[in-house]
Amino acid sequence: MACNMFLTLQPGNVKMPVLGYGTWQGRGNDLESALNVALESDLYLIHFPVSVLNGFSEDAHGDTSVSYLDIWKKMEEQVDTARTKTIGISNFSVKQVDNILKNCRIKPANIQVEMHVYFQQKELVDFCSKNGVTIVAYAPIGTRGYNAALEAKGFTSKVLPDLLSDEVVNRIAKKHSKAPAQILLRFLLQLGVAAIPKSVTPSSSFGG
Ligand SMILES: NC(=O)c1ccc[n+]([C@@H]2O[C@H](COP(=O)([O-])OP(=O)(O)OC[C@H]3O[C@@H](n4cnc5c(N)ncnc54)[C@H](OP(=O)(O)O)[C@@H]3O)[C@@H](O)[C@H]2O)c1
Repeated sequence: MACNMFLTLQPGNVKMPVLGYGTWQGRGNDLESALNVALESDLYLIHFPVSVLNGFSEDAHGDTSVSYLDIWKKMEEQVDTARTKTIGISNFSVKQVDNILKNCRIKPANIQVEMHVYFQQKELVDFCSKNGVTIVAYAPIGTRGYNAALEAKGFTSKVLPDLLSDEVVNRIAKKHSKAPAQILLRFLLQLGVAAIPKSVTPSSSFGG
């Protein structure tokens, strides 16, 4: 769903939509209006394989009347009309990626999934690599801000592992004189996976 709220990021006064460019609450016809917001993008993703009704509430649930294969056909139309260069998917399982590949005109260029040392997605990485779908890992250092985001929305926080404190990660970091965050990112890069770590703290070190 397209977003009408923006933040101004420093440096450079870059305007950024508060909810990103996602279409996770979108139904078929919302795709085009969301893309109007993101027209300068090179890659346009389906955020989830399910459409979610009443998102961010106790009553959130999937809308079974929306098929991701129908959504994918709409995505393909956006490439046909040159409104985005490439299209992809996010949070899809191996079975769902396979289903798209068997029923598409245009293959997904990319899949964005949660992936890190504690959630290695080996089957998905293997399958996507064999089928020419590039992979982007979100939460590469473990989404440390997740609980704060949950609490801000009134949800109970969860017990999450702290990847940056992991003993093995720290031992490797020490051995190579690197920061633990760099080890977590290098792990992904060595698998041929791109990572999108996020920080609003300039001093957080990803090592360039
Ligand atoms: N496709 C999807 O469904 C999906 C889902 C979730 C996220 N994403 C995207 O994935 C990207 C990554 O977001 P993420 O939050 O999931 O992942 P993340 O990069 O694993 O975690 C970000 C958190 O880690 C902290 N952090 C960053 N660098 C650090 C460091 N060197 N030392 C200590 N703490 C550090 C950040 O805090 P500070 O800001 O205070 O440094 C922030 O709270 C975002 O662009 C997000 O939009 C996509």
